[in-house]
Amino acid sequence: MTTNIVLRVGIVALCLGLFGCERPVSYAADVQPILTESCGNCHDRTGEGSVASGFSVNDYDNVMRGTDLGVVVIAGSSDSSNLYRVIAAKTEPEIRMPPHHEQSWAEGRGKPLSEEQVAIIKRWIDEGAQDN
Ligand code: HEC
Repeated sequence: MTTNIVLRVGIVALCLGLFGCERPVSYAADVQPILTESCGNCHDRTGEGSVASGFSVNDYDNVMRGTDLGVVVIAGSSDSSNLYRVIAAKTEPEIRMPPHHEQSWAEGRGKPLSEEQVAIIKRWIDEGAQDN
């Protein structure tokens, strides 16, 4: 009986602490809307960001293809993924995304991500960057 309770408490604690026990992040439902809203104006194949870097956020395949220089998503490792690094301010200020020039924002071309949105993208990458 006591063992049973200890076991249950243990499982709940593990759940909360280690795994969160939340549903996995969905690319289609969670990640794509953020990228479309905040990055789509410049990274839509013809926008200035796509032209300059080759990176388009139109769909999963384009996001995984990355820039002209290579991939920006390393499944399972947000810290190695430039997609995460540029939105989490872990790069040189010049390549943080969306670019921090107020003129672009005033023109509606890009919107800074909230901490929550950055966390969603981080989790999606760490959970394997699936097309889910
Ligand atoms: C106002 C236009 C604009 C917006 C909005 C924008 N970008 Fe960019 N992006 C650029 C330009 C221009 C470049 C290429 C030059 C540079 O690196 O600054 C670029 C380059 C990039 C690169 C390649 C960086 C490298 O050199 O490795 C990534 C990745 C990227 N953007 C991701 C994003 C993401 C994610 C968002 C949305 C959160 C976003 N961008 C929003 C204009 C934009």
